[in-house]
Amino acid sequence: MSKRLVIGNWKMNPKSLKEAEALFKGIVTASKDSKNVDIVVCPPYPFLTTAKKVPNKKIKLGAQDTSEMLEGSYTSQVSSSMISSLGATYVIIGHSERRSIGDTDEIVNKKILQALKSKLIPVVCIGENVRDTHGDYLALVKYQLIDCLKNVSKLQMKNIVIAYEPVWAIGSHATRVATPEEFTEMKIFIRKVLSDIFDSKVAHATRVLYGGSVNPQNAQAFVDATADGFLVGRDSLNPKKFGAIIAVCK
Ligand code: 13P
Repeated sequence: MSKRLVIGNWKMNPKSLKEAEALFKGIVTASKDSKNVDIVVCPPYPFLTTAKKVPNKKIKLGAQDTSEMLEGSYTSQVSSSMISSLGATYVIIGHSERRSIGDTDEIVNKKILQALKSKLIPVVCIGENVRDTHGDYLALVKYQLIDCLKNVSKLQMKNIVIAYEPVWAIGSHATRVATPEEFTEMKIFIRKVLSDIFDSKVAHATRVLYGGSVNPQNAQAFVDATADGFLVGRDSLNPKKFGAIIAVCK
């Protein structure tokens, strides 16, 4: 089994470079004793280089998004090769907070293909906005996987991570946290879809993370429910809590 993976998504936090440096240092200290866990921190773009300067061998860096374009006249866009040249190795793609402002599955797919070209590991976010009683959310997740992973090869799947983040469980407006049982069911479903698109070997080798109101109290239950790790929002801004979530994944 591959190591569990814990990713901190700082979103649009903290407010300043100074605070970002302090936060990153705090996370380095809090995760010192964390053998057998892969740790990634995804700060906003301007803080990637700050984090890079803090000496540590353990924590890898990631960006929170990438452009679907290679280069050129695209004001405000940041390309995968730029991210890679800053020393980052991961990139979150298709986060629901990006999807809510226009990222379609087609755009997410283009971003994944660009990221792979620059040797970044895409953390592909999928998940439904609401759970209905007819199971329509399963069809939605299925087509997110099919459309987002179009033209991705079996070999490239070795460098892709799936993060299941039900939108209703994310952030301070979450209606509730997903239950570990709901995660287990969804992971089985995701594996089935990956098996249909690729094969069962790919389906079993792909890490499926849980994201949505993860905290030190609920993390163990998700690990017991076969989560291969976490995509953490709010609690990645608190080194003590983030460290405690990492400790659960050891
Ligand atoms: P929270 O952990 O704050 O719910 O955010 C989850 C998330 O969106 C991580 O990408």
